[in-house]
Amino acid sequence: MMSKSSPVNFLCVILLASAANSCEISSFSNVSVTVVGVLGIDKVSGCLEPIGLLEKVSFVQIINQSVPVLYRGAVKDLPNLADLILENSGVSSLEPG
Ligand SMILES: *[C@@H]1O[C@H](CO)[C@@H](O)[C@H](O)[C@H]1NC(C)=O
Ligand SMILES: *[C@@H]1O[C@H](CO)[C@@H](O)[C@H](O)[C@H]1NC(C)=O
Repeated sequence: MMSKSSPVNFLCVILLASAANSCEISSFSNVSVTVVGVLGIDKVSGCLEPIGLLEKVSFVQIINQSVPVLYRGAVKDLPNLADLILENSGVSSLEPG
């Protein structure tokens, strides 16, 4: 039992690795979003990070926008986020982190 490496350990490594990186590359460029949890956010640029109002969002929906690549750190450390929906937004590449 103890000698098997568990998926939980693996996940922790991923989380630690992504926590070390901030928004190096913008994944979102003036992208229209629908959020739940706060009022007053309808566009995002850069990354989804716990800065300002974004810290409180519990739901993010991005539909029919242009988000070709989700770079490392695109969505990061949002403490209340339960759901992120990306639909019909042309995501063709997902980078680690
Ligand atoms: C973002 O898009 C809106 C219209 O959808 C435009 O008014 C605004 O100037 C744009 N902002 C940037 C930084 O491109
Ligand atoms: C997204 O695009 C599809 C087809 O172009 C359209 O039917 C749908 O209503 C759009 N949805 C939103 C939320 O804009």
